Amino acid sequence: MQRLNNKRVLLGVSGGIAAYKSAELIRLLSKQGADVRVVMTKGACEFITPLTLQALSGNPVHLDLLDAKAEAGMGHIELARWADVILVAPATANIIAQMANGQAGDLLTTLCLATSAPTCIAPAMNQGMYLDEATQTNIELLREKDVRVFGPADGTQACGDVGPGRMLEPEQLAEHVADVFSRELLTGRKVLITGGPTQEAIDPVRYISNHSSGKMAFALATAAVEAGASVTLVSGPVNLPTPDRINRVDILSAREMHQAVHDNMKGTDIFIGCAAVCDYRPAEIMKDKIKKNPDDPSETLEIKLVKNPDIVSSVADLKERPFVVGFAAETQNVLGYAADKLRRKKLDLIVANDVSDDEIGFSSDNNEITVLGDDFEEPMSRASKTVLARKIVKVVAQRFESENGTGKE
Ligand code: PMT
Repeated sequence: MQRLNNKRVLLGVSGGIAAYKSAELIRLLSKQGADVRVVMTKGACEFITPLTLQALSGNPVHLDLLDAKAEAGMGHIELARWADVILVAPATANIIAQMANGQAGDLLTTLCLATSAPTCIAPAMNQGMYLDEATQTNIELLREKDVRVFGPADGTQACGDVGPGRMLEPEQLAEHVADVFSRELLTGRKVLITGGPTQEAIDPVRYISNHSSGKMAFALATAAVEAGASVTLVSGPVNLPTPDRINRVDILSAREMHQAVHDNMKGTDIFIGCAAVCDYRPAEIMKDKIKKNPDDPSETLEIKLVKNPDIVSSVADLKERPFVVGFAAETQNVLGYAADKLRRKKLDLIVANDVSDDEIGFSSDNNEITVLGDDFEEPMSRASKTVLARKIVKVVAQRFESENGTGKE
């Protein structure tokens, strides 16, 4: 069920007695790592309170189509786009009829019409209503529109009748929702990435840094999420928006990055050190701005530098270490120096990056790299950082899997 990790589930609750089971369903989906948002019809609110479902999902419950306040938060079209999957559970005969006929009279039916995400229903109603030709025709119409139908189960109903129409149990529904998503390369894996430059303060207004833009690391973070991983990105100061579904931790200096990496290490399967960490920092940060002598044109200033901690090595040295991938930014003997860093820093893989060429490496949108392992060398020709990040993540996932077994279900 790791397939639900990081997935966005929109749960539509319509007005049937089975609405009380939605509470347990939300709990199960959230436990599997899904981000759950709930939309309730007016009828659903007669059976269970929005407050209960809000508390369990940890998100505000959406109730009305024409609520200006709610629209100012996450509007209905935004909500339809947000979802990776929509599940209507319970789905009454009425909501099924509306969905089958493309009606959009309230928020839930509007979302079902507007979304391009897979849509699923869990019918729940009296057996007579379920077996009625109209309901059967409507369910068939929905199946033709690729709506997945979970259940219903047979048995004794709330009204005392016996027959088909009971909503499936929350455990079964959670399984069916997970089945909507296939297992991806890094499903259920936790990936920690460093990116961008670090800034090492000299005084309150000056610092030492480098030209890293963060583009390579942000592309890697996005590619790892696409591959199903939960991603934490520890980033130096960069001018980039946070990619979707990524836990971003901002830092300035190498020492802060070192601390943030180890604070977020728990449960990490794969660590990728893409940051251009400053190797040195000023031995002392001046409390006040350093003033120049206006009368001495030949004045010089010496700043003593001390070594920063080597972050990627500190991760590779952990007793319970993740799979560790480093980068090597070099201007000459690129593969030779990268292979040396691979061994010296005890890495599983290293990505060799020639930064002597202005068109690739630092700041540019493109790159050209070679991934090296002990017994392995894979050159990747010039392409956008987005394309290369996907290729790197694929190689990393394959090598990780061959050492640690297949991904989690
Ligand atoms: O950010 P962009 O503009 O997109 O540019 C991408 C990039 C060129 C920064 C990136 O592709 C890259 O090559 N990153 C590594 C830069 C670097 O610092 O390389 P290095 O050879 O100095 O370091 C080797 C490895 O040790 C790296 O994984 C680095 O993150 C790590 N390191 C270095 C020093 C230190 N104190 N701690 C570290 O963890």
